[in-house]
Amino acid sequence: MKIEKRIYRRLLSYAAPYKGRIALSMLASLGVAASDGAVAKLVEPFIDRIVIAQDFELAKLVPFMVVALALFKGTSRYIQEYFINTSGQLAIQDIRNQLFSHSMSLSMRFYASNAAGTLISRTLNDVNLMQAAVSKVLVSVLRESTTLLALTGIAFYTDWRMAAMAFVVIPVAVVPAAIIGKRIKKFSRRGQSAMGQVTMALEQAFSGIKVVKAFATEEHETEKFIAENASFYRFIRKTFKYSALSAPVMEFLTSIGIAVVLWYGLNRVMADEMTQGQLFSVLAAILLMYTPLKRLTKVNNTVQQALGGAERVFEILDEELEIVDAQAALTLSRCRGAVSFEAVSFSYETEPVINELNLQVATGEVIALVGPSGAGKSTIAGLICRFYDPSEGRILIDGHDIRTLTKRSLHDNLALVDQETFLFNATISDNICYGSSGATEAEILAAAEKAFADDFIREMPEGYQTLIGDRGARLSGGQRQRLCIARAILRNAPILLLDEATSALDTESEAMVQQALANLMRDRTTFVIAHRLSTIKHADRILVLEQGTVKETGTHRQLMEMDGLYRRLHDMQFKDPEPLCD
Ligand SMILES: Nc1ncnc2c1ncn2[C@@H]1O[C@H](COP(=O)(O)OP(=O)(O)OP(=O)(O)O)[C@@H](O)[C@H]1O
Ligand SMILES: [Mg+2]
Repeated sequence: MKIEKRIYRRLLSYAAPYKGRIALSMLASLGVAASDGAVAKLVEPFIDRIVIAQDFELAKLVPFMVVALALFKGTSRYIQEYFINTSGQLAIQDIRNQLFSHSMSLSMRFYASNAAGTLISRTLNDVNLMQAAVSKVLVSVLRESTTLLALTGIAFYTDWRMAAMAFVVIPVAVVPAAIIGKRIKKFSRRGQSAMGQVTMALEQAFSGIKVVKAFATEEHETEKFIAENASFYRFIRKTFKYSALSAPVMEFLTSIGIAVVLWYGLNRVMADEMTQGQLFSVLAAILLMYTPLKRLTKVNNTVQQALGGAERVFEILDEELEIVDAQAALTLSRCRGAVSFEAVSFSYETEPVINELNLQVATGEVIALVGPSGAGKSTIAGLICRFYDPSEGRILIDGHDIRTLTKRSLHDNLALVDQETFLFNATISDNICYGSSGATEAEILAAAEKAFADDFIREMPEGYQTLIGDRGARLSGGQRQRLCIARAILRNAPILLLDEATSALDTESEAMVQQALANLMRDRTTFVIAHRLSTIKHADRILVLEQGTVKETGTHRQLMEMDGLYRRLHDMQFKDPEPLCD
């Protein structure tokens, strides 16, 4: 209960900026309550003075009263709903934006352990659930409870004995409603995580469609999806069961209440203790309570669902940012590009991936990282990018520990071509200038030319304005890589990180791109990671890594003479029937 209160209070804090709208809406909801109260109250003179005493002067007013009341109630309701829905939507928009921006800042470690599907489901479904709590509830509760209050007042004022009788009976309906609400919450919570599973299955299947087709697992994926859907249905069915139950149960219990009250009231009229008008007035008040009461119990369900959603959203918002700017972080202007590793050790989990790495790289040097798969090459590139912080030791750029620099300025000095090419579903031009927003068309063109991408881009139906599909699906692997290289070239950063940047190119275009990169590397510091050793032959220094430890360092020639791991890797490639090494 305490936790729920805290979540709810936090949820409401998002509504605070829209106080004005909400207040207006609340005011209007008082209008709605007043009109319902007036209806119940007017029943008494209507019966006693018009129907029974036949006061026809008064009767003439009735149609006008009906229309006026309806108009007043309608206007109040309109104002109420419009302003509360807009403020709810605005608050929810804030939450969604905050959630997204927070997610963007979360560490790679977080993304390694949280599926994209779950995150999508939280940003969409869970946030939607929360909307109800912020908007509907705030004012529904006020509208319905003031209506109830007004009706209760009328009932007691008219005949307190009969009203008291009604109030002994009505609470009977509240208890089962509360039980039902609890159940709904439980199942909605599980239903939401089941929905996350469905989203995840979708996301995985669509983004991995090629693998699915290549391995002919369409049926398997479909079965998996059907199973996820079925398990979602099992949860949602229970939610439906209880939410469908709530109205009939309420209605039934209310009818018992009405029967008892009616019987009691009729007895009082027959004993001349109250007038017919008073009887109908109290009855009208009680009947008019039905709708707000029903809504209130529904509100309870909505609140429960919303709290479930809010809990999951806040969980992410509370996820601490692992990589943040230090308090007085330095802004690194264009650096010279001296990079050094001082006794850097790192592990993703418990297993050490980098062991005591020491490395001094001078401005303009080209350092190649080679070694078997899983040796830790990409990890080193990731550490320079500060995707993760070292567990021990430090990494310096121009003598500054990168943890003391602003992330923004650190990244302005880096250009990464990752092993996994990623392109956005946008135009070629937009993809190239991603991260270099000020670039001119001429600069984009020049970068594409240097990456040997210009030719194929010009052959595309709409040239630089061609949309390349999800993740660049409409391009070949090598074309995608060349776009990523162009993107890095355009960035014009003093430190280049090339992780298997040319692995998907044929030997000829690789040689050409290499040539372009060599021009680019001239006055920058470059880290090149490659399995194809021909790519790194001309590096100033080659680091041979194995299980996170530097086994050998030297130039190509020195390493060949050393006759160690490098030589072995080299000879293996050399024996390859394809002339990979020249
Ligand atoms: N996010 C992660 N969480 C846990 N372990 C990871 C993560 N990323 C990589 N690893 C592990 O760290 C080790 C080094 O991985 P890394 O990606 O640096 O290898 P690599 O040398 O780049 O290999 P490859 O040549 O295949 O690209 C591997 O054993 C890998 O299993
Ligand atoms: Mg790698």
